[in-house]
Amino acid sequence: MAGEAADQKEKVCVTGAGGFTASWVVNLLLSRDYVVHGTVRQPGDIKYAHLNKLEKASVNLKLFKADLLDYDSLRLAIEGCSGVFHVASPVPNSLNDSDPEEFLEPAIKGTLNVLKACKKAKVKRVVVVSSIAAVVMNPEWPKDQVKDETCWSVPEYIKTTKKWYYLSKTEAEREALEFGKRNGLEVVTVCPSIILGPILQSTLNSSSSLIVATIIGGLESLGCNYWTFVDVRDLADALLLAYNKPEAAGERYLCNSHSIGIRDVVEKYLRPTYPDYKYPKNLTYAEEEVQHLSSEKLQKLGWTFRPVEETLNDSIESYRKAGIVG
Ligand SMILES: NC(=O)c1ccc[n+]([C@@H]2O[C@H](COP(=O)([O-])OP(=O)(O)OC[C@H]3O[C@@H](n4cnc5c(N)ncnc54)[C@H](OP(=O)(O)O)[C@@H]3O)[C@@H](O)[C@H]2O)c1
Repeated sequence: MAGEAADQKEKVCVTGAGGFTASWVVNLLLSRDYVVHGTVRQPGDIKYAHLNKLEKASVNLKLFKADLLDYDSLRLAIEGCSGVFHVASPVPNSLNDSDPEEFLEPAIKGTLNVLKACKKAKVKRVVVVSSIAAVVMNPEWPKDQVKDETCWSVPEYIKTTKKWYYLSKTEAEREALEFGKRNGLEVVTVCPSIILGPILQSTLNSSSSLIVATIIGGLESLGCNYWTFVDVRDLADALLLAYNKPEAAGERYLCNSHSIGIRDVVEKYLRPTYPDYKYPKNLTYAEEEVQHLSSEKLQKLGWTFRPVEETLNDSIESYRKAGIVG
């Protein structure tokens, strides 16, 4: 728990601290000597046990019970912090985002609640984790043109597809940037592609299940055969850059490291190291699945990323350690 010795250090809040990405953000912040206020919905739950094992957690991490739809709970967690990393948002299991209620309100109203609490606490900067879901659903964007920060998913188009997670991320990100402008609050948004890499938590989050399905699913096809992804540790670095770099104020950043067909994932990287897993048989992808994404703007801030094999190998080793795969 944060105590007297921690009083002089910079305090920041991370929402949804126990999640896959947020756990790595907390880990990075603790390693850089920040005092971290982490929000969780069910304090005491075994699913957050990994947080207490992080280095310096015993002195510099304090968990707060907070729900995105409960403004007062967020306010108490954010009070006294100079920065906030807003990571929490409902993420669909597999590709199931069929219930709009589950996604829209926590993402949109939840983000506004976080921002209002930031304004009240006179927070210096808020980094909001958005998604390429807020970027890629744009039928007007020329097919072969690389997508960058100027490309936004089109809400009216998303509604016709009923992909409510995509809508939730698009609307939440727009609202966040607009709130920042209207209220003189420094808001930065970061839009990661699929987030992979080792897990700190003991159960599988939704995007990590993509690798697990690839190695033990025994499937004919994964149904998602072209991947754009970023390592969760590289994303944490990107979020910290977005927090600390003065020129990032009010900006939007795409965060993608690798764009790769599943055939290469399996044949170049996985099968040579792990020959005994049951890989999908059909490894071809449809042309429509291909995405050309640029993270040049983030790289100009100084961002670098790991090679494909490091992310994949470290992911699998972490699932083995957690007893999720053999
Ligand atoms: N995973 C990906 O491939 C991917 C790609 C692009 C963007 N993103 C974005 O990255 C962020 C983190 O994703 P992740 O995959 O790391 O997620 P995750 O492991 O599923 O964690 C999501 C977190 O959100 C919290 N949460 C959900 N609804 C909440 C509510 N109503 N109030 C408070 N907390 C709530 C959960 O808290 P509890 O622990 O209390 O349940 C959980 O900690 C999300 O904003 C997501 O949209 C993810």
